[in-house]
Amino acid sequence: ALPDIDPSLLKLEPTSSPKIRPPSSTLIFGRTFTDHMLTIRWSSNSGWQAPVIGPYRPLELDPSSTVLHYAFTAFEGMKAYRNEDGTVRLFRPDMNMARLNRSAARAALPTFDPKALETLIKKLVMLDSEWIPNEPGYSLYIRPTLIGTQNALGVGPNSDALLFVICSPVGPYYASGYKPVQLLATKKYVRAWPGGTGSHKLGVNYGPGIVPQSEAAKEGYSQNLWLFGEDDALTEVGTMNLFVAFKKPDGGVELATPPLGDLVLPGVTRDSVLALARGHIKGEKIPGLPDNLTVTERKVVMGELEEAEKNGTLSEVFGTGTAAVISVVDRIGYNGRDITIPTGPRGLGPIAESLLSRVTDIQTGKIEHEWSIVA
Ligand code: COI
Repeated sequence: ALPDIDPSLLKLEPTSSPKIRPPSSTLIFGRTFTDHMLTIRWSSNSGWQAPVIGPYRPLELDPSSTVLHYAFTAFEGMKAYRNEDGTVRLFRPDMNMARLNRSAARAALPTFDPKALETLIKKLVMLDSEWIPNEPGYSLYIRPTLIGTQNALGVGPNSDALLFVICSPVGPYYASGYKPVQLLATKKYVRAWPGGTGSHKLGVNYGPGIVPQSEAAKEGYSQNLWLFGEDDALTEVGTMNLFVAFKKPDGGVELATPPLGDLVLPGVTRDSVLALARGHIKGEKIPGLPDNLTVTERKVVMGELEEAEKNGTLSEVFGTGTAAVISVVDRIGYNGRDITIPTGPRGLGPIAESLLSRVTDIQTGKIEHEWSIVA
């Protein structure tokens, strides 16, 4: 077998000119980068080469590199948190490593030992740990990326690839607290389809979402609500997974999310919200969640939302993702009219608020949990 990623071969080349860190309050999502990056080259002849952690710097790519022509790029988004005592934590990094391997396999890019990459990411994050803001709502966004670097215009599997990891200190996704977002439900554009790549974290799924979003913005909506199929099934919102809470006739609440499959990205926050809500039902109570909660992964169609709005049983809609964690929806444009969804005084319904606070308490280490991995 060809060599896998081997952390013991790491070449550490610290920067001789560290940058000046901007004040946290001035950070814009994904615009500021730390001092170092991790790079690991791969070739089909010699496998994974020695990892290098060196200064953050531009890549040098031949103009014929396959990534520039045929979009061979798989990526991840994950976060590290630093609390007051200096402890650095990663949130469920094993999920990101597994998903990157799954994306790589789909895009004809090489796979790797997930534990080895996780070890190297921890080293990178600790080297740049001074960059992790510790104000509430702030974190270090980590972007592992795997690209095809074969110099060839022929379309085929890659003989060369580059895995790199960069880090960006980030604040709350929304500058002024939890501002609800408005969605335009559309089938004019389709994000994912059976047999497509929509359930993989590939660059090719994201760029084409910008024009639909700009069109939605012209009509006064912040994001697209991606629909699929004859019955207008809900799939995702913008770049996030989607949850809907319905009041039930028996006084209970159903928290529903579209099932995984080709149409839905297996989000880490989605999985976490599902697990926490199911834990609540089994007795690991989360303050603020209703006692008679049910959690379902099932098809949800627009007709149900219209019906629920009419009956007063549409109680919450929110998106989940690593970047914003939870993003509340208060209005959905559909078939020429708006469906309105109630939101609480802080702009968050009670379910979104309870889950958001539990997830962030785990991420920051305020609540000890096996998901939170000390780096
Ligand atoms: C998310 O975390 O919700 C994302 O999909 C990341 C985005 C910046 C591509």
